[in-house]
Amino acid sequence: MTITQLQDAIEHHFAAGSKAVGDESAMTAFLALRAALESGEVRSASPDPSSPFGWRVNAWVKQGILLGFRLGVLEELPAAGFSFVDKSTYPVRHFSAGGGVRVVPGGSSVRAGAYVASGVVCMPPMYINAGAWVDEGTMVDSHALVGSCAQIGRRVHLSAAAQIGGVLEPVNASPVVIEDDVLVGGNCGVYEGAIVRKGAVLAAGTILTRGTPVFDLVNGTILRATGELPLIIPENAVVVPGSRAINKGKGQEWGLSLYAPVIVKYRDDKTDLSTALEDLLR
Ligand SMILES: CC(C)(COP(=O)(O)OP(=O)(O)OC[C@H]1O[C@@H](n2cnc3c(N)ncnc32)[C@H](O)[C@@H]1OP(=O)(O)O)[C@@H](O)C(=O)NCCC(=O)NCCS
Repeated sequence: MTITQLQDAIEHHFAAGSKAVGDESAMTAFLALRAALESGEVRSASPDPSSPFGWRVNAWVKQGILLGFRLGVLEELPAAGFSFVDKSTYPVRHFSAGGGVRVVPGGSSVRAGAYVASGVVCMPPMYINAGAWVDEGTMVDSHALVGSCAQIGRRVHLSAAAQIGGVLEPVNASPVVIEDDVLVGGNCGVYEGAIVRKGAVLAAGTILTRGTPVFDLVNGTILRATGELPLIIPENAVVVPGSRAINKGKGQEWGLSLYAPVIVKYRDDKTDLSTALEDLLR
């Protein structure tokens, strides 16, 4: 099946709604898409210089991932190779498919349909969801999440507890993109289709969403998402978590301030030193 045929098949079966359930050709199309995502042949978003923000979202891929949820039934997944010892009074709860609760396996797991390039390191516990792309030499550190369809470039460091949002729920149109050589510090959260350009640094605790204005002290500008464009962090920006005073109404009267990510500088030698990756870990 060519990619165009696969796209047609996915769009057709997605549009069929519940009629796709039990249709063997729908399952065949989904499994072909899942394999193509895992091999990297198909992506949920791809670099595209002709797009206003440099990335093209392949909406049909997200439809295919959702189709997989529609077609799947609950089944028990045996956990081979693990050995655990704990107090006999508190064994691990057992769930069966009939209970209707989904427990996704593993302290760390990578879901089928995610592309993970050779040389990626995954530290437990972490999770990479369907449709994600994680490129060569990237470190996914403990408690990090790579949400559905998120695109992570080469040599990215996703530090401990960094959360990269997905597109499936809540529903987001375009995935988060973290380009090559970005450092995402500990406890950061990047959500709602934000794009972090090459070489940028998000200091620990930085949170980015569509609604978060980012204050660029170097250029004297305020960066925001617009109707057409997501929030875009420029190449090599160093973003740290800050705050801004509320200067009207009750907020001012009560002396409140709001969270505000701030670009304090653009990458320099000191930043390179602070963010150098350890080759021995890769
Ligand atoms: C951003 C970071 C890389 C520092 O980069 P740097 O280029 O060395 O930054 P500098 O030290 O030159 O700081 C530049 C300015 O930002 C401020 N700043 C730096 N880091 C900051 C932070 N995390 N929060 C708030 N302000 C910060 C500095 O005080 C300085 O401002 P000043 O000139 O007014 O004093 C570092 O703070 C950071 O967050 N590293 C990630 C740590 C991490 O999450 N590790 C995960 C391991 S799993």
